[in-house]
Amino acid sequence: MYALSEAMLTGVPQLDGEHQDLVLCINRLEDAERNGDLAEVLRLLAIFKSGLAEHFAREEAYLGLISFPRLDAHAKHHSETIVALERMVEELQAGASILGEIAAQCFNELLQAVLLMDMQVINWRADRQLAGA
Ligand SMILES: [Fe+2]
Ligand SMILES: [Fe+2]
Repeated sequence: MYALSEAMLTGVPQLDGEHQDLVLCINRLEDAERNGDLAEVLRLLAIFKSGLAEHFAREEAYLGLISFPRLDAHAKHHSETIVALERMVEELQAGASILGEIAAQCFNELLQAVLLMDMQVINWRADRQLAGA
């Protein structure tokens, strides 16, 4: 079971809610993986991918709204994450990877990195507020 740690909360309710939904999806993936249900794993990976893509789009709109200066780099990392996920799905479909590590990879390699990038936004915002901007 994966969970968002306190340190990974942005304090923006909508973003935290969406991050939470992504974690829930990974937990369902983990269950399907444990049951050896490849079809269900692939179905959940597709849901995870569209959830991520929708979240990224909304988040990028929000970053534009608050004039986040590193929006381009942030958005680039978002698209690289989708590409990495697509590669994982392809490898799984091609039989090049086996069930057992998929949920862990989604959480540890993809989502954690995504959340770390989001924390840069939160730190930037907090600094700006401290500066009275
Ligand atoms: Fe992000
Ligand atoms: Fe995010």
